[in-house]
Amino acid sequence: MDATLEATIRRELVENRDRTAPPPDAVPVPPLPAGRYHDERLFALEGEHLWRRTWLYAAHTSELTEPGAYVTFERSGAPIVVVSGEDGEVRAFYNSCRHRGAPVVRDDCGTAKRLTCQYHSWSYGLDGHLKAVPDARSFAGLELDALGLVPVRCEVWEGWVFVNEDPDAAPLVEFLGPLCEQMLEVNGPSLRKIGTQSHVVPANWKAMVDAFLEVYHIRTVHPDNAALLYDDTTATVAMLPNGHSRLSVAVKPELLGVMDPSPAADNPSVGALWRETSTSFGWFPNIVAPLDTGAFPLLCMWPLDRRTTELELVWFAPDWGDGDTPEENTLRMTLFETVMAQDTANMGGIQRSVESRGARPFQIGWHERLIHHFHRAVDLAIGDEVPAELRVSPALDGYVERA
Ligand code: FES
Ligand SMILES: [Fe+2]
Repeated sequence: MDATLEATIRRELVENRDRTAPPPDAVPVPPLPAGRYHDERLFALEGEHLWRRTWLYAAHTSELTEPGAYVTFERSGAPIVVVSGEDGEVRAFYNSCRHRGAPVVRDDCGTAKRLTCQYHSWSYGLDGHLKAVPDARSFAGLELDALGLVPVRCEVWEGWVFVNEDPDAAPLVEFLGPLCEQMLEVNGPSLRKIGTQSHVVPANWKAMVDAFLEVYHIRTVHPDNAALLYDDTTATVAMLPNGHSRLSVAVKPELLGVMDPSPAADNPSVGALWRETSTSFGWFPNIVAPLDTGAFPLLCMWPLDRRTTELELVWFAPDWGDGDTPEENTLRMTLFETVMAQDTANMGGIQRSVESRGARPFQIGWHERLIHHFHRAVDLAIGDEVPAELRVSPALDGYVERA
C-alpha cells in the first residue's frame, strides 16, 4: 500500500480511538428509508439497472488454469459461462446455443475441449466460434461464422474475473478505480480458491451488505471473537468512487500477532498494515473482501428475492505449493462459521421490522457512513426511476475520496 495512504490510515485509527465527539468535518448522515429493504419496485429496478449493468465478481483465475476450464454464472439474471481459451484468455458467453437456446454447458464447473450443446450437438470452440453442426445439409444458408456464442463483457483484474452484461460499460479497472492500487499487495493471481460456504438469509441483500460495512456491532454481536481481537473505536473508513469502500480497524495492541498464519500459510507480499489491522474493501455492489495475510473469504451477497439473500463465502489462501491446503486454512473457514452465524442471526428480525407498520427511517452514524455510501451508489446505478420516497440523499457525495 502507498506509504502516504498507510500513514493516513494509521493516524486516523489513533484519532478515532481518542476522539470524544464526531470528527470536526463530520455532518449528520441522512436517515435511510426502511422501504429500501423490501419495496418491490426498487427490487425490480435493481434487477434491471444494477445487476445487469455492473461489473460482478464471477470467478478467480485459479479455477480456470487450463484451456477449456469453465464455470457458470447466473447471478446477473442470465445464464453465463466463463471459460478459459486455448490462448489463456478468459472469456464469457451467454450459455445459450444459437440453434434453439439450450445450454452449451450443464455443470457448474468443469473442463471441455469444445462447448457442445447437449440438445442437438452444435459445437463451439473455446473462443465461442461455431465449429460444427450435425446434419448441416438440412440447414439452407447456414453461416457458421455468424452463429458464435453471444459474448458477455469479461475482464480480469489481478486474478479476479468479473462479468458485466452491459456491452457499453466502462472498463473494469476504471470501475474499480483506487481499489486496484490499494489491494495490489494481496497479489491476487498468486491466491488459490480453497472452498465456499453458503447461507440463505431471510433478509434483503442490502441489509446483509450493511452488516459488513461497519464494526459498530462487534461488541454486541461478536463478543467472543472479533470484539476480543479488534478495537472497534479505531475504525476508519473511506468512501471510494463508484460505491466502493475501505474499512480498517486496529488489532488490540496486546493481541498483535496472535492471528498470524504460520509461514506455510502466510502471504509474503502483504505488508505491516494488514497484519496490524483488519482492512476490508467493499467491491460495489455486493462484495466485502476482508483481505488478510492468511486465508480469507470474499463475502458475496446475492439476492434470491427481495427478502431472501444468499450469503456466499468464497475462500482464498496464499499459494502453499504442493499437497493439500494447510490445515490452518480449513480451520479458519470453520471458525468463521461462528462469526457468520452471529452476523446472520439478526437478519430475519430486521426484515420483519422493515416490513412492519412500525418501520421508520434508519439512523446512520458517521462511523457507519459506508452504508449510506453503498445505498447512494445503488441509486446512482439505477438513475431517476428510484421512487422519491426511497431515495438516498446526495448530501455526502462531497466526501467520496477521488484518487
Ligand atoms: S439447441 Fe443446441 S444444438 Fe439444438
Ligand atoms: Fe459482524
